[in-house]
Amino acid sequence: MLDLTPDRASLEPIEIASRDEIAALQLSRMKWSLAHAYENVPHTRASFDAKGVHPDDLKTLADLSKFPFTTKHDLRDNYPFGMFAVPREKIARLHGSSGTTGKPTVVGYTARDIDIWSDLVARSIRASGGRSGDIVHVAYGYGLFTGGLGAHYGAERLGCTVVPVSGGMTERQVSLITDFKPRVIMVTPSYMLSILDEFRRKGIDPRSCSLAVGIFGAEPWTNSMRSEIEQAFDMDAVDIYGLSEIMGPGVANECVETKDGLHIWEDHFYPEIIDPVTEEVLPDGEIGELVFTTLTKEALPMVRYRTRDLTRLLPGTARSMRRMEKITGRSDDMIILRGVNVFPTQIEEQILKCAGLAPHFQIELSRTGRMDDMTVHVESTSASASADARAASARELAHHIKSTVGVSARIDVAEPGTVARSEGKAKRVVDNRPKT
Ligand code: DLL
Repeated sequence: MLDLTPDRASLEPIEIASRDEIAALQLSRMKWSLAHAYENVPHTRASFDAKGVHPDDLKTLADLSKFPFTTKHDLRDNYPFGMFAVPREKIARLHGSSGTTGKPTVVGYTARDIDIWSDLVARSIRASGGRSGDIVHVAYGYGLFTGGLGAHYGAERLGCTVVPVSGGMTERQVSLITDFKPRVIMVTPSYMLSILDEFRRKGIDPRSCSLAVGIFGAEPWTNSMRSEIEQAFDMDAVDIYGLSEIMGPGVANECVETKDGLHIWEDHFYPEIIDPVTEEVLPDGEIGELVFTTLTKEALPMVRYRTRDLTRLLPGTARSMRRMEKITGRSDDMIILRGVNVFPTQIEEQILKCAGLAPHFQIELSRTGRMDDMTVHVESTSASASADARAASARELAHHIKSTVGVSARIDVAEPGTVARSEGKAKRVVDNRPKT
């Protein structure tokens, strides 16, 4: 792999500004954002009033902790446009996330919001090692999901040639990569594995393809998965994070030269980590729930939005802005099995230690009597693996899970290609326990 460390002169000054400069910018923008939300969103005004706080009470960044949180429920209760802070005519675009129940969460953008979003995705692609003039293959889904269009506008903004493929039709993904020779791909890590399978099925060596940089996100993935993909494609794999309620992709991104967690673009989003139970703000370095306040969003300003994502804040390295550690999981994806907290990413890590197993997996939860059981459905790397070899892989994985995660799991080693594939975000947990 090449050294992709950027020339410092090519960075935006704020990316390498002093912490004092960043904090001063954040404070003035935060004052604007709280006042904008308070004046224009009835729900926000009511929640500030109920807590007895006013935007003028914010004198320092730490004062933010006095303000109320916003949750997905607030967006649902004000469906579709009730949380917008500008008249509907000023909304240039709507996006949404499907979630698990019924109606999507609707988010809106003014033309200026889209402009800033494009700048931040361009910054993210540059941090990942992409450059003006690159061909960028976008295999995130286009549509209400923010992945496709978010990536697209950012790549255009950076001056790249964009191939707007969207998700699905895996054979075609491979032929377009072979024919157009993109240097950069933007896709979910789980779908990248399906693309990898397709390369192998066609007998094309993935290491011989043109891809040098992969910008993967929209779902949790581990450093073990990073190594797997980097080795398979001889590329750099970098993490991109974001959520629709705050903007979409490009809220935070790893820098290719360090790959040590994601720099949060703090000039536009103010992060806090809270204890999800007591709701206390935790100091940097402690793990908890990530909360964001937008600093420049016009259409949908968000005050202390609870993401449910679990991580911790770390000081800046390749950039001055703080980093968030790779996300372990969401508080609502956490499985509590016989009292032990289990995240799908922990299972992913153990699977990647087993040579005979491919990293396609799904966790099924069931109940026999009063006991919850976990079955990990995972694939063998080879269709011709003997029953004995599969049983040995199953024992190996069960052992790793028991000794590192601390729970007993049943392992089902299936034929290659039989575990459900996603073309976007992978569904890692299937809960078949009776609803109580
Ligand atoms: O997934 C935006 C996005 C698109 C990010 C493309 C990156 C690339 P939502 O559909 O609203 O938006 O889902 C947001 O996805 O709260 C996390 O739980 C999860 N997520 C997103 N990026 C990462 C990541 C997009 N890099 C939710 N690592 C978030 C772990 C991620 N989880």
